[in-house]
Amino acid sequence: ASNNYIRLVEVGPRDGLQNEKKSIARETKIELITRLAKAGLTTVEAGSFVSPKWVPQMDGSSEIMKHLLGQRIPTATPLTYSFLAPNVKGLENAKTILEEQAGSYLTQAETLAGTDKTGRPAVELAVFAAATESFSQKNLNCDIATSLERFAPVIQGAKNMGLRARAYISVVLGCPFEGYDVDPHKVAEIATSLLEMGADEISLGDTTGMGTAPRTQELLRCMAAAGIRNEDIAMHFHDTYGQALVNTAISLEHGIRTFDSSIGGLGGCPYSPGATGNVATENMVYFLESLGMDTGVSLDAVADIGEWITKEIGKPNDAAVGKAVLGA
Ligand code: HMG
Ligand code: MG
Repeated sequence: ASNNYIRLVEVGPRDGLQNEKKSIARETKIELITRLAKAGLTTVEAGSFVSPKWVPQMDGSSEIMKHLLGQRIPTATPLTYSFLAPNVKGLENAKTILEEQAGSYLTQAETLAGTDKTGRPAVELAVFAAATESFSQKNLNCDIATSLERFAPVIQGAKNMGLRARAYISVVLGCPFEGYDVDPHKVAEIATSLLEMGADEISLGDTTGMGTAPRTQELLRCMAAAGIRNEDIAMHFHDTYGQALVNTAISLEHGIRTFDSSIGGLGGCPYSPGATGNVATENMVYFLESLGMDTGVSLDAVADIGEWITKEIGKPNDAAVGKAVLGA
């Protein structure tokens, strides 16, 4: 990858859809994931191994994983499908499919070696912590310390299977229950624990979209002061307050090169009342390319996908760039 390469992690099929009340057909989800991969997104978050009582829309993630592992999409770089797993139960559910499908996916070592010619995808599992106690209780039904104890075997289990492990930290720039009172040092401390457990990457979630430029800068400085490397950080901005691209610019200046985004600007966490979608993939691609950065993603293709999926689920297309490109 060139120096100007920015890795976009497409979270639409998970973060974008998890909050939808009406059940979305599995075929639609698979078509969405497949089209995103073909558009050049090398990492696509495809589902969640969470309790179906808590997030009914993500029920069926096993079948989606199974389908994706059987599919071969010709891409320039190996594809990675990411799935959330908050506890050992989630890990075991993923493991069942992965063992059944042994040999049909790339391990992290094989992905890094880059010599595979079979077009097999790779798999990543992601745990999700919170920066505040109240959000941890609402999202995970336990306190932060307990959540970290539960993540350790999930991360270890993923690594033992040769998978990449990601770890989110939510509400890093504002909490629906504790407001702006989120301590960046606490975020750095949680990130350090997760990295020590073996996580390959920390995704810092501005779940509520309350983040501003100065606060983003303060958080990233605090991460650096704690010895956390930029290459171990991804930023995950929700655009509720319209600040996501500004905060992206600040993060780029700081040296961050991985960003999460969601097709059509879909998204929202069921346990973050009022929070809207993630920054739209379409807006990110346009913005990053205007800076001379390379995302490897086709703007025309994502504009079409955003228009299609928002129509399909009956939501407005929240991607300003997508609508402009299509003249809609
Ligand atoms: P709990 O109720 O405390 O769990 O929930 P439990 O261990 O007591 O188990 C209760 C029941 O759930 C049992 O079933 C378990 O088997 C089942 P029962 O005996 O009652 O029939 N269960 C599971 N089923 C399937 N998969 C599992 C699983 N675990 C237990 N993995 C739990 C604890 C963590 C399970 C629950 O709180 C949960 O599922 N939370 C998920 C919340 C969620 O998915 N939130 C959205 C994703 S995070 C997000 O959106 C933020 C992010 O985008 C970044 C950002 O923007 O900040 C990532
Ligand atoms: Mg999110």
